[in-house]
Amino acid sequence: MDFRHLKYFVAVAQERSFTRAAERLYISQPPLSRQIQQLEEELGLKLLDREARPLALTEAGRFFHGRAVRMLEQLDETIAMTRRLSQVDRRLVIGFVPSTMYGALPRIARLFRARRPQVPLVLVEKTTVEQGEALKAGQIDVGFGRVRFDDPSLKREVLREEPLVLAIPTEHPLAAESGPVSLVQAAAFPQLVYPRKPRPSYADHILSLFRDMGLEPAEVQEVQEMQTALGLVAAGMGLCLVPASAQRLRRDEVVYRPLLESNATSPIIMSTRLNDQSEDIALLRELIDEVYRLQQAEKLEAERKSMPVLTGPRSSP
Ligand code: BEZ
Repeated sequence: MDFRHLKYFVAVAQERSFTRAAERLYISQPPLSRQIQQLEEELGLKLLDREARPLALTEAGRFFHGRAVRMLEQLDETIAMTRRLSQVDRRLVIGFVPSTMYGALPRIARLFRARRPQVPLVLVEKTTVEQGEALKAGQIDVGFGRVRFDDPSLKREVLREEPLVLAIPTEHPLAAESGPVSLVQAAAFPQLVYPRKPRPSYADHILSLFRDMGLEPAEVQEVQEMQTALGLVAAGMGLCLVPASAQRLRRDEVVYRPLLESNATSPIIMSTRLNDQSEDIALLRELIDEVYRLQQAEKLEAERKSMPVLTGPRSSP
């Protein structure tokens, strides 16, 4: 038995059809059937119920499928980590959700390129769920996402909890004031959430913030991207909860208000493969702290500059 048998069996199990599995594997059907038969002979049992329509897995087949998927993931991960260790094709591939591009990510990437010019840096847009799969398949080395998910083969760190703000069309009644607004007030109006898929996503995080307070938004429209959601806010179609850093996307037709609820935040989560000890990832992690320190210092400096100059008590004439 070799990895090819496992790969072929997983394709048949997932497609529930020899024809579709053969198409997916770019082979013809007879060799695929032969490989599955060989596998069953070697195991001495049936993995598939060939009478069922669509094709079904036997109980042993279901068990074997779960293990085979894990073994194939481990193989991909082993190949990626071995390549990285031997420095063949050395590069750092980061998967990110679009909103992190309005936060610290561009600055972190710039610093990485300056400190490690010999390591090509690749940035690819991926949802948090896609990042998990891509890490295991060795397609990316680091993921920056916003949805908490558990996977024993991945290491996950919440870098910070970013406050959310409410994006409001300028003509909207809630835009008349600029102070903090509550989720109760927001829930009375249609909400735009993103991305539509894959789930669970940032959209579910936002909806559960409302539901945790026993609120059901008046109406919910799902779109695929934050930019589209903000465009629809500008068109007066509804409100949208976005991470505070998205306020950089200044548009004349949209105003942003902070939220009263202190738990209305969205995490920025860094994920890597569990045993990846790469020095490039270690450097990236150091740079994140460096950028956070710089941002903090800049914020304090900006606050200091905007503060009225304090003068001592006027001396009496
Ligand atoms: C941040 O905005 O905090 C951030 C975004 C991407 C990567 C790391 C940090």
